[in-house]
Amino acid sequence: MSEPRILDLSAGNRAMWYDKNCPLATFVDIRPEMKPDIVADSRNLQSTVGEGYDLVVFDPPHTNFSKNSDMAKTYGYLTGPEIVRLVKETAREAYRVTSYGAFLIFKWNDRDRSLKSVLEMLEPYWMPLFGQISATRRRRSGSDKMSSTYWITLVRRDDPIDILGDALVAREDKK
Ligand SMILES: C[S@@+](CC[C@H](N)C(=O)[O-])C[C@H]1O[C@@H](n2cnc3c(N)ncnc32)[C@H](O)[C@@H]1O
Repeated sequence: MSEPRILDLSAGNRAMWYDKNCPLATFVDIRPEMKPDIVADSRNLQSTVGEGYDLVVFDPPHTNFSKNSDMAKTYGYLTGPEIVRLVKETAREAYRVTSYGAFLIFKWNDRDRSLKSVLEMLEPYWMPLFGQISATRRRRSGSDKMSSTYWITLVRRDDPIDILGDALVAREDKK
């Protein structure tokens, strides 16, 4: 059996990785200063990225910090509409470069946008299996929740919904 091939589509500082040079992984980021294996736009991957991956990691920017903030410098700066476009188009591109039965590990913080709304953007290509909150931030003054961070595991659909328009209708009918 061959080893799994992993594609990290938002590598950044690789903070989440135990081995930041994991030999199974190809690290992609749009910012050259992150020193990814391949500088690429996850919405439109060039042929050097290849295809046939078994696992994709996707940890997109999730919030609008101010453009010159430390957070923006660390994680990149995108507006809300740009984040929506990034998630939707990367879901499709990740589908294109993966094999049948591949998995997507998705990390999300719901400070600005609910997990449910973002999963809906992934769902045409990726079916959510299970997930868990890994952290919750609360306001200092009280117990009000500010945001939670989630890790979600999704599996690649073999019938991508927005290509097969009929599949979407059939799913709606079942509700
Ligand atoms: C939240 S950070 C990822 C942090 C990373 N997972 C870690 O462990 O350090 C999001 C990353 O996505 C990258 N990014 C934003 N838009 C992108 C795009 N269109 N294609 C590829 N990477 C993108 C940013 O440059 C940033 O490094």
